[in-house]
Amino acid sequence: MPANRFNGFTDYGIGIGLRIPHYDHILTKKPVVDWFEIISENFMIDAGRPLRVLDQILDQYRVVQHGVSMYFGSADPLSREHLRRLKTLVKRTKTPWLSDHLCWGSVDGTYTHDLLPMPYTFEAARLTARKIREVRDYLEVPVCVENVSSYAEYHVSEMTEWEFLTEVAEAADCGILLDVNNIYVSSFNHRFNPMDYVENVPHHRVAQIHIAGHSKYRKYVLDTHDHPVIDPVWKLYEAAIRRCGPTATLLEWDDHIPSFEEVHAEALKAERFLRTVADSRAASVAAAKGQLVLP
Ligand SMILES: [Fe+2]
Repeated sequence: MPANRFNGFTDYGIGIGLRIPHYDHILTKKPVVDWFEIISENFMIDAGRPLRVLDQILDQYRVVQHGVSMYFGSADPLSREHLRRLKTLVKRTKTPWLSDHLCWGSVDGTYTHDLLPMPYTFEAARLTARKIREVRDYLEVPVCVENVSSYAEYHVSEMTEWEFLTEVAEAADCGILLDVNNIYVSSFNHRFNPMDYVENVPHHRVAQIHIAGHSKYRKYVLDTHDHPVIDPVWKLYEAAIRRCGPTATLLEWDDHIPSFEEVHAEALKAERFLRTVADSRAASVAAAKGQLVLP
């Protein structure tokens, strides 16, 4: 782990999203998995089977919470009831950090249930950072913001998306969940170089990386999480871990979900890139010391 890793975020290895079709397989076969990511909103209930399953998973695996409805970028105040329920779950899972998206999705209490892109302005960054700090202080757990995939941009934007993400993360003093598939999707739709994004985020704040598949259409790319990861996204992943160091990595697969083994095997492809990066780091350290590294 790089010495400059922000806030003690630990590399937990390679995880996959916990999804209902895999419950029985996981509970009966007990596969070796580094960690699972859960969607917090699926477990913010008082009782029932989801919580019983979660408790069994928690007995054997590390679980990290990921949310889809905090809407850090909405002008609406935070929902106290949502935060109260979320805190109950945070205590249950002992999640080492909690992530949600850098987006907006509600107006005057009406929710879109979509992760809508933000105008990249300094004012929006300031307000968003204030809400992230509020959430972290209330939940008493480190918070990471995730870049979303997008299909629209605003004329009022004053900076690039990666500058906006940086502005928010620095002002909030929070972590980043870097979704390299989302970077690819947005770079295709908005015609920017995805490597510029990966190179220019504050690497020491990246606590976690998302990888996923998407669907390609003639004029745009849609973030569907229903395919294997494509090579250009693996290239972005490799570039990200070269700069951030080995980082907790999570494969998202949310639609047309194949067998547990297939999803896990796709996630474990990340190992090849982690090894390459580790080898080249060892080689450059050895070169700096004037030693010869044998293959
Ligand atoms: Fe993601």
